[in-house]
Amino acid sequence: MQEQLLKLRDEALAQVQEATDLKMVNQVRVSYLGKKGPITEVLRGMGKLSPEERPKIGSLANEVREAIATEIAKKQQQLEQEEVEKKLSAETIDVTLPGRPSRMGNRHPLTAVIEEIEDLFIGMGYTVEEGPEVETDYYNFEALNLPKGHPARDMQDSFYITDEVLMRTHTSPVQARTLEKFKGQGPVKIICPGKVYRRDDDDATHSHQFTQIEGLVVDENIRMSDLKGTLEVFAKKMFGEDREIRLRPSFFPFTEPSVEVDVSCFSCGGDGCNVCKGTGWIEILGAGMVHPNVLEMAGFDSKKYSGFAFGMGPERIAMLKYGIDDIRHFYTNDVRFLNQFKQA
Ligand code: DAH
Repeated sequence: MQEQLLKLRDEALAQVQEATDLKMVNQVRVSYLGKKGPITEVLRGMGKLSPEERPKIGSLANEVREAIATEIAKKQQQLEQEEVEKKLSAETIDVTLPGRPSRMGNRHPLTAVIEEIEDLFIGMGYTVEEGPEVETDYYNFEALNLPKGHPARDMQDSFYITDEVLMRTHTSPVQARTLEKFKGQGPVKIICPGKVYRRDDDDATHSHQFTQIEGLVVDENIRMSDLKGTLEVFAKKMFGEDREIRLRPSFFPFTEPSVEVDVSCFSCGGDGCNVCKGTGWIEILGAGMVHPNVLEMAGFDSKKYSGFAFGMGPERIAMLKYGIDDIRHFYTNDVRFLNQFKQA
């Protein structure tokens, strides 16, 4: 019986050794250690043994069982480990593989120009103000010396929402709002960039929605020469140090006197070409000395305070600066257009 047990042990251990997967190991366990297995069978025959032999064989049977079980457990662990390693090596990531390129966006050319202009004026001590795009008739027109029925209202075809509320037609209402905020106390020195809306048919130079940048300076002793000096610095920074400006008389209800400002042509230097239509000059903005009525309506003493204001269109500035021939390019966002304005 002893020999039989030892033989079973060797057989089982050999089979465990040969097993190449967990299933095979399990089969060995079932066939040798299971209730109907050969070891149980041997033990059943113990009744025929002498009382002296019984404990010997019993303990040997237990040893054999244990030896097989230990070996099975070892093998199981080894196979599991191998399986994990196989899986890991199958799933390894090749970090040397080149990645998919992700495309970098860039600032919209209009945003870039607006920020450039903002930086320029911030550098001269201005702060940036904002106002609502849905505006009241009062701030958009009346507070700017454009009472109801004033013919100059026709210069700006408007999108009305109600009789008293409209989409602002320019950024000038922010002048009135800011002056009110300052409660009659100068100095005021602000610019205001933002969207404006007009009932225009869209074409190469018109859009029903576009942007403006407003400027306003109010203090004691502000003169036309301050306006001219400020705009000259602006024109040189924006279009080149050799640029000059000239002021032409014009009309805006909120300024008196009012001017239109031209910059000497950066394309031909003033000799005349297609960009300046042969004149040597390009119009870039409207400006003037703030009308006393505008100051008074907002609570400023027009005997003590004076000021200048200007309004420009960043689209126009960008079109001139970059030779863009159609304003609609700014709004259709064709990437072939936008990609040309990648910043370094
Ligand atoms: N608001 C004017 C427009 O949209 C532009 C303008 C002209 C603004 C003269 C000003 C200014 O502040 O002084 O046509």
